[in-house]
Amino acid sequence: MTPPTLDDDALAAAGRVDRDRLWQRLMEIARFGATGRGGVNRQAFSAEDAAARRQMADWAASLGLHCLTDRIGNLYLRRPGRDPEAAPVMTGSHLDSQPTGGKFDGAYGVIAGLEALQAIAQAGLETARPIELVAWSNEEGSRFQPGCMGSGVFAGEMALADLLPLVDAEGISVEAALAGLFEATPGLPARPAAAPAAYIEAHIEQGPILEREGRTIGVVGGVQGMRWLTVEVTGEAAHAGTTPRAARRDALKAATRMVVALEAAFAEADPEDILRFTVGRFEVEPNSPNTVPARVFFTIDFRHPEAAAIEDLCGRIEGICRAQAQGCPVTVTTISGLPPCVFDPAVVATVRGAAERLALSHRDIMSGAGHDAMNLARLCPTGMIFVPCEAGVSHNEAENATPDDLAAGTRVLAASLVALANR
Ligand code: GLV
Ligand code: MN
Ligand code: MN
Repeated sequence: MTPPTLDDDALAAAGRVDRDRLWQRLMEIARFGATGRGGVNRQAFSAEDAAARRQMADWAASLGLHCLTDRIGNLYLRRPGRDPEAAPVMTGSHLDSQPTGGKFDGAYGVIAGLEALQAIAQAGLETARPIELVAWSNEEGSRFQPGCMGSGVFAGEMALADLLPLVDAEGISVEAALAGLFEATPGLPARPAAAPAAYIEAHIEQGPILEREGRTIGVVGGVQGMRWLTVEVTGEAAHAGTTPRAARRDALKAATRMVVALEAAFAEADPEDILRFTVGRFEVEPNSPNTVPARVFFTIDFRHPEAAAIEDLCGRIEGICRAQAQGCPVTVTTISGLPPCVFDPAVVATVRGAAERLALSHRDIMSGAGHDAMNLARLCPTGMIFVPCEAGVSHNEAENATPDDLAAGTRVLAASLVALANR
């Protein structure tokens, strides 16, 4: 695809973006799941997630947007185009959060999309293509693994039937939790299947580069690949006071050795500090002070910009774990993966062109964080817009961004959407 023209209509839409309205809506959404330390806990398919969805549907009604859904609970807000049959241009992000998440990760892309649609309407524009705003289900993957479920099903990368039976830590299934989400917005029609013409997602950077360099817009060229694995180590429960060392099969001691050995092996393989290796969940059973641990379960989040490095280094995980198992059976399972993704050059050029026309400082950037855009990129020309966040902090209740930067990203989004929707 060749980059679309950023004409006067695109600039007019950008000019209607209202910084304070954008900020106010972000703060209203942040009330759903608000934590004491200024963040949010709005995990996928929770009551808080459902309440945020209800709020979106109310805003859609007040703006005359059509609200639609699908069986994985994605919420679509549609603004018709001149040609009702034309493939829509889509924008969006997610409303679910980490357990100790911030106000902006995900919510920004959704609320920026809503602001862009309102700005386009206030500029009196009719676009050739429809524009659809979407709030994707379960991007974070902290309550139900894997993440990016909504966009995964939409893009045909995941099968709904495989996801519905998955359970959270309390044994609640995706299917049961989804029922609560649907109850919050009863009677929404199903979105008719229609592949998008293009997709563009606004997001805070979640890293320190833009702020450090004093630039307002990140023109995102792609996203590094990620793979999630689980490791289960089986030991044997035994009395803490009586069982001699030689008679123990301690799953916790084996598992901690594994984590230390993995960390050391990856540090050695990666002197330039490019790969990202995280053990973010660690469960011990029976979790009793005076019983030798019988089972440990932990997760691995592994990321790298090169597919070959992911393949090679993740391929070493099982061997490293087994070498530390000391008699404990160990099972390593890959639960999800997204290859590194390169965004469409024309969409990237559209974002860069919009930043230039709007006289906003910008730079090209790669995303370290994962996004729904990775799934969409398999379906249609895709790009992303980053804005700075304070000290690069994210997945943290202290996450912050300035109203001016958030509005600037939304102006780039509005201009890009108009340009893409008039192609
Ligand atoms: C998304 O939140 C990610 O884990 O990158
Ligand atoms: Mn996000
Ligand atoms: Mn996130």
